[in-house]
Amino acid sequence: MRMYDIIAKKRDGQALTKEEINFFIEGYTNGDIPDYQASALCMAIFFQDMSDEERANITTAMVNSGETIDLSPIEGVKVDKHSTGGVGDTTTLILGPLVASLDVPVAKMSGRGLGHTGGTIDKLEAVPGFHVEIDKQEFIDLVNQNKVSVIGQTGNLTPADKKLYGLRDVTATVNSIPLIASSIMSKKIAAGADAIVLDVKTGAGAFMKSLEDSKELAEAMVRIGNQVGRNTMAVISDMNQPLGRAIGNALEVKEAIDTLNGNGPEDLTELCLTLGSQMVVLAGKAETLDEARHKLEESMKNGKALEKFATFLASQGGDGRVVEDPSIMPQASKQFELPAKKSGYVSDIVADEIGTAAMMLGAGRATKESEIDLAVGLYLNKKVGDYVEEGDSLLTIYANQSDVEEVKAKLYENITVSDQKVDAPTLIHDSIT
Ligand code: URA
Ligand code: CA
Repeated sequence: MRMYDIIAKKRDGQALTKEEINFFIEGYTNGDIPDYQASALCMAIFFQDMSDEERANITTAMVNSGETIDLSPIEGVKVDKHSTGGVGDTTTLILGPLVASLDVPVAKMSGRGLGHTGGTIDKLEAVPGFHVEIDKQEFIDLVNQNKVSVIGQTGNLTPADKKLYGLRDVTATVNSIPLIASSIMSKKIAAGADAIVLDVKTGAGAFMKSLEDSKELAEAMVRIGNQVGRNTMAVISDMNQPLGRAIGNALEVKEAIDTLNGNGPEDLTELCLTLGSQMVVLAGKAETLDEARHKLEESMKNGKALEKFATFLASQGGDGRVVEDPSIMPQASKQFELPAKKSGYVSDIVADEIGTAAMMLGAGRATKESEIDLAVGLYLNKKVGDYVEEGDSLLTIYANQSDVEEVKAKLYENITVSDQKVDAPTLIHDSIT
């Protein structure tokens, strides 16, 4: 087999066989196939697309390129949730304990944040003592015991994807549905999930800016999952404005606590209930999405969800008292308000730019090496559709620095107040079940 022929075949619009795809992925991973040939193939895929069968085959080939995690010692159907990345997306913190409170096992491997999006591990580390440096056996034992545990990235999972994603990034071939879908799904499958729930974000703060593209990506991932034997569902949710109100690590943990209590922001609560219902159904703990939702709401009301959060935190060294007293987390020394310059309706809060403003305060990392400040961040007092009086606070800045003029300027640039009445945006655009 020759890589040249594989490139030419795809260039001419033909489907590649499983053997050809395996030859490419294995050869590229071990260095036999050079970057220039791999980039030519990615560009051919970008223009010629891949059939469902090719998509499933490239996903499986990438899974097989490295280690995989065996979660079979954990009882029950392990459902993983994946979000395509957002700003102030506190859902993972909430969904873990929430669905675990219904005995759905959550074995979560998570990462740290980079740029304008936060990472689940960073957020959890705002809880004094909490750590994710546990070994695999402890991780499995904790999930069996408490139904929920979070571990840092371990093992050499999907090296083919790592290499290929890096190459696509510099060859203008990231934005290809078959390549994105296989990249994301290979990582979920290698991490051991039996079933997968996807939160595909759409809008200004999302990877996919248009609803049409987001839908296409969601459908592609659901088809791959189902083809390779992992039941998969998806939600397409809005990421024009940040989700919830808090952006920043300790602030988002507090927001998660409020939400688990049933007192969270409306949009965040709704998204968690929607995604959570899919997880519960896939895990076989409810027959219908409605039944699952009802059980989840019950768990928020009767305190079981919050209790599960405290148990989970304590099981990994964290101070579980945080659920009663969030002030034991790092607190910012200063607060600044951002007064509205005129009265009207908030019409736009540009999610990724707001995320960047939080990063400028130290809530996120500009580079992989940056230190983050767990205490700082932003809290949106107004969301899109809300009426605001001139001088009222649009948002509160939590900082450990006295000069926040640059941050304020960035925020003003990215929050629009309009004279016309504006409706709150649709949160859930679609569900694929
Ligand atoms: N995220 C991924 O993990 N892979 C892609 O290809 C795009 C976004
Ligand atoms: Ca939030």
